[in-house]
Formats: sequence, C-alpha cells, structure tokens
Amino acid sequence: MSKGLFITKPVEAAPHVDAGEPVEGSLGGEATLKRTLTARQLVALGIGAVIGAGIFVLSGQAAANHAGPAIMLSFIIAGIACAFAGLCYAEFAAMLPVSGSAYSYSYATLGEVVAWFIGWNLVLEYMFAASTVAVGWSGYLNSLLHTFGLGLPESLAAAPFNVVDGKLVATGGFINLPAVAIIAAISWLCYVGVQQSAFVNSIIVAIKLVVIFLFVAFGIKYVSPDNWHPFIPENQGPGKFGIDGVVRGAAIVFFAYIGFDAVSTAAGEAKNPQRDMPIGILGSLFFCTLIYIVVSAVLTGMLPYTQLGTPKPVATALEAYPSLLWLKTIIEVGAIAGLSSVILVMLMSQPRIFYSMSKDGLLPPLFARVHPKYHTPYRGTIIVGIFAAVLAGLLPIGFLGDLVSMGTLLAFATVSAGVLVLRKTRPDVPRPFRVRAPWLVCPLGVVFCLYLFWQPFEENWRVMLTWTGLGFLIYFFYGYRNSRLRNRA
Ligand code: ALA
Repeated sequence: MSKGLFITKPVEAAPHVDAGEPVEGSLGGEATLKRTLTARQLVALGIGAVIGAGIFVLSGQAAANHAGPAIMLSFIIAGIACAFAGLCYAEFAAMLPVSGSAYSYSYATLGEVVAWFIGWNLVLEYMFAASTVAVGWSGYLNSLLHTFGLGLPESLAAAPFNVVDGKLVATGGFINLPAVAIIAAISWLCYVGVQQSAFVNSIIVAIKLVVIFLFVAFGIKYVSPDNWHPFIPENQGPGKFGIDGVVRGAAIVFFAYIGFDAVSTAAGEAKNPQRDMPIGILGSLFFCTLIYIVVSAVLTGMLPYTQLGTPKPVATALEAYPSLLWLKTIIEVGAIAGLSSVILVMLMSQPRIFYSMSKDGLLPPLFARVHPKYHTPYRGTIIVGIFAAVLAGLLPIGFLGDLVSMGTLLAFATVSAGVLVLRKTRPDVPRPFRVRAPWLVCPLGVVFCLYLFWQPFEENWRVMLTWTGLGFLIYFFYGYRNSRLRNRA
C-alpha cells in the first residue's frame, strides 16, 4: 500500500518541440494542447498573473490591520520566500515542461499521494485565487460606477457570508454580482483558446503597468514622511502590529506574488520551454517585487496607514487629494483591467492542472477532454468557472485570500523540497536551469514557506483541515483506484 501511495512517475528530459507541435502525440485523432507561447508572452503571463488584488486591495488592508508602514518589510519577507521557491520552480519547469506545475513535479519526486495533496492545494491557489481577485475587481468596479452615480447597492456587491472561527456568519449582503459576472466572462475567454487569451492578456498587462507608473509618478509628490512614523507600530496582540504583525502582513501580501508560477503551468504550451521558462518565472518575479516596494512606500506615505483598510486603498489614497481626483478614475479603470488579467491566468491554469491529473487517472477523464476546435481543456474550464463564480459570489476577500496563500505556500514548500530530492535520486537528468547551492536554497525555501503558512493557519485551521480531508477522501475513493501509473506498475 505505502509503495503504491508513494509511487513516483519516471522523469524524462523533455525533447525539444517545435512551435505548434502538440504536447503529446495525438492518439486516434484526439486533440491536444498546442505549443505556441513565446518568452515575451510568458513574462507577460507572469506579470498578468502576479500584479493584482494583492497590491491593489490586500496591501492596504494588511497595512491598516497588521503591519502599518512596515508593510514594505512584509513585501520583502514574502518576496524572499518567493525567490527561493521561484528558483526551484524554474529548475523544475525547465526540466519538466508539462502542464501540471507543482503537481507534476511532486509526482516525479515525492510520490503520488504527495502529488495529489499538492494538486489539491493548487486548487486553492488557482481556482480560489480567481474568486479572491474577482471580489477585489468588484470593489474597484463598484467604486468606479459610484463615480458616475451608477453604483450597485451594497447587498448586490458584497459577500452574504463571512467565516469567523471556522463558522459561516451572515453579513446581510445577498450576492457579489460583479464578481460572478467577471468569472463567467473570463471563463468564456479561456474556453475559446489560450493564444487568444494570451494576446488579450498582453494588452491588459501594458495598461496595468502604465496606471501603476502614473500612481507612483503623481502620488510621490504627496508623500509625507511623517506617515511612515512609527514605521513599525506598537504591537496590539497576536498578529496586530509589531514584528508579529509584519510577519502576519507578509503572509497576507504573499498573495500579491502568487501567479509567477502560473507561467510554469503553461510549460506544455511554451515554444521553447528549456530556455523560456526560467526567463518567464524569475523575470516576472523580480519585476513585481520592485513594483510592490515602491507602490507600498507611496501608498503608506500618502495617507496614514490606519485609513488604508478599504476595498480600494489605491483609489482611497488618491481621494484624499482633490488635485489627484482625475487620476483616481484612470487608476480604477487600470485596476479593473489589471485584476481581469489575473483572473484570466488563474482560470487558464486550473483546468490545465486538472488536465494533467486526469491524464494520470487521478481525476475523471472528462478533465482531459480537449476541445477539437479551440484546443483547450474545455470541460474543466466550465467546471472551474462554475465553482469559482459561486465562491466569488458568496465569500469575502480576506478569508478567500488566506486560504489561497496557505495552499500556495504548501505547494511552494513541496516544490523546494522536491528539487533537492530529485538532485539526489536523478542526478543524471539534464537540467537546462540549475539552482545554485541547492543544499541552502531549497531548505530555506521550505522553512520560509512553512513559517508564513503557519501565520493564518491558527485562524483558519478548521477550514484547512476540512479541505485536506475532503481531498484525501477523493483520492482514496477515486485516484488511488484509477491511477494509471499504479495500474501499469
Ligand atoms: N498575485 C495575484 C494578485 O495579487 C494573485 O492578485
């Protein structure tokens, strides 16, 4: 039994593939994913996935409730954890360009049951993240609509439930309608094809970068260094300011970095994965870290941190200065576009992970069905879209964001460990990108990620354990019996 549980999938160096060549040979005319994405599109995909609700929404909330101006430090701590994990992702993604991300990497190194566990956590990272960002999107949209006197009533733009201490509590809201609508619209885009989606994504990424540049360029004139004092406000209890709050803040803004690994889930569709995956992952991570530090410095410099805990902190900072009101609308439009691109990448990635799990027999075959015309995993796309819409319509951003960060941190920790394991077990496999000093980088990746994972766990342990238990039930009743690898062994 235990041998079966920890069975590993043989690692093969990926052959070079040409543009447009299918990932795997077509069997009996079965449609497969196409290799069409370039390095530039991969970096755009990374930035598209990364800059989103983390900086536009959660940064303000984390500053107001946990870290104060030291939110800049929180971004640095979270960025360091991601850098370690990012290097490990790059080694794996270049070596194993398959569309399954951390799931596929763990299958090759730590065994099937661990791979399932990580795949299940990736659902938190991608599907739940799409919902989380959709809630942030809704906040900016409604703020923009209010500017023109068209705002939706609170009951139609807010979650009807909150989760307090593992229990559902009614908020008085009815449904977050804009959040549901954006998930439905983007699911359709994912349904009709990755090439089209990547093109739309590149345009949106450009808009997002321009509005961030404008915010920094104009906002910096209104920064008052007094707002940065005290830099680390005095501790007011567990996770509330002080060093403890800075670390809790890091676990929250970790969400802002999630997505650079989404590049790796598109490895199966990259033209030249060996060269382009490391560029895509590390390039987008480096770029985003710089942006976060600058934006959070300007944000906390423009307004006392206590006033930033709104659903749209960047717009809130601009509202404080009448001479910047013209910029507020532009920023809101940019944020709406920027958050859309994050949702796009998340909704594109999740069905591709399910695709890999289904190919391996751990999920039902319907997730591996590829559309004959669009070459997308269309059934998985529809199913993910429906679940993501329900979550976005019913739950608040803080709770969703915590779950996303926790699931992702576990996946990152596992990938970091996996790189070291594979160096020992398969030193022979060619590695187009190698982590330097893996004996240091990999353990540091594990320790940083698990430490951050622990911060929100204390508040959310009931939900997290229920989620994990549900995952194992599915594995033992379905995946364990239908695993292709074990049935072949
Ligand atoms: N990093 C993404 C965001 O901040 C998930 O929205």
